[in-house]
Amino acid sequence: MKEHELSLLGLKRRIIEKLVRAGFATVEDLLYHSSREIMDRTGLPKKVVDNILGRAAVIADSGFKTAYEMLATERTKITTGCKNLDKLLRGGIEIGNITEVFGEHGSGKSQFAMQLAVMVQLSPNEGGLGKKAIYIDTEGSFSPSRIEAIARSRGLDPNLVLSRIIYKRVAGVFELLHSIRKAPRLAREHDVGVLIVDSLTAPFRLEYQGLAELAERQQKIEGALMKLARIASYEKIAVLITNQVVESPGTKKTDIGSVGGHVVAHVSNLRILFRKGLGNKRIAMIEDSSFIPLGETIFVINDRGITDP
Ligand SMILES: Nc1ncnc2c1ncn2[C@@H]1O[C@H](COP(=O)(O)OP(=O)(O)OP(=O)(O)O)[C@@H](O)[C@H]1O
Ligand SMILES: [Mg+2]
Repeated sequence: MKEHELSLLGLKRRIIEKLVRAGFATVEDLLYHSSREIMDRTGLPKKVVDNILGRAAVIADSGFKTAYEMLATERTKITTGCKNLDKLLRGGIEIGNITEVFGEHGSGKSQFAMQLAVMVQLSPNEGGLGKKAIYIDTEGSFSPSRIEAIARSRGLDPNLVLSRIIYKRVAGVFELLHSIRKAPRLAREHDVGVLIVDSLTAPFRLEYQGLAELAERQQKIEGALMKLARIASYEKIAVLITNQVVESPGTKKTDIGSVGGHVVAHVSNLRILFRKGLGNKRIAMIEDSSFIPLGETIFVINDRGITDP
């Protein structure tokens, strides 16, 4: 997304100064925040902030497109590198939206995330975007040697692939939120095609423990998801988040209660449940989608990454 100067908003100098002092440098900076956040940071009243956001939307508007134009001119999916999964997902992981992979420990969420960081680098005629990945790792499960193996098995230069993954290990919620705030600019500067957060929910679970803090946790996760949704849409990139869920005994497999609960379900556009099968087999299931029929498929995890059985 192209950035526009605040002066284009045609506001009084006093108001521009307040925005700048609160850390908003461009029209696009404003659009990344809710009116509530802008009110809190600037002290401006709601009426004024709504007016500013209305003007910002007009200036940032790059024009509508017909659905046909979109289909014809833009690749909208990134291949997963596994035919079964691509078929389930109608082509792969979608650009402009959040995809959530959730499932129990060892179900393959991090493996999938690493594979996508490689797949996005493939050329468009191979199903990728020829672009880089941003990888925010909250659990330390990212493995460069695993990336090398996945890249090599696809005939790619491992060092080149590694150099095109912008990696950040974050320790907690506040570092994570800071990294998410920095992501849009990074995405623009580095020609990024996918932003991965593995895991999104783990740091929130550590920071906000117990029932008393549940509401606050949900609210914070929702805030992060709204930011990620804006990044996906404005920067036209795919966002992949993972979410570990714990299987509660005595319930059906699909009754797994996810950590982010309904909040995550609400904001992410597509949720895929990963389950363990026999040996290295895994089952992927579309949980909830307005644009993809429900269904499930099988994939395996092996030394080449995530592949067809
Ligand atoms: N090189 C490899 N060859 C074969 N299988 C592998 C390889 N590396 C990892 N795996 C398998 O991948 C699985 C782990 O998957 P992954 O780490 O993606 O799980 P996860 O869903 O992220 O779990 P968690 O919720 O704990 O983060 C293990 O079953 C492991 O055996
Ligand atoms: Mg993991």
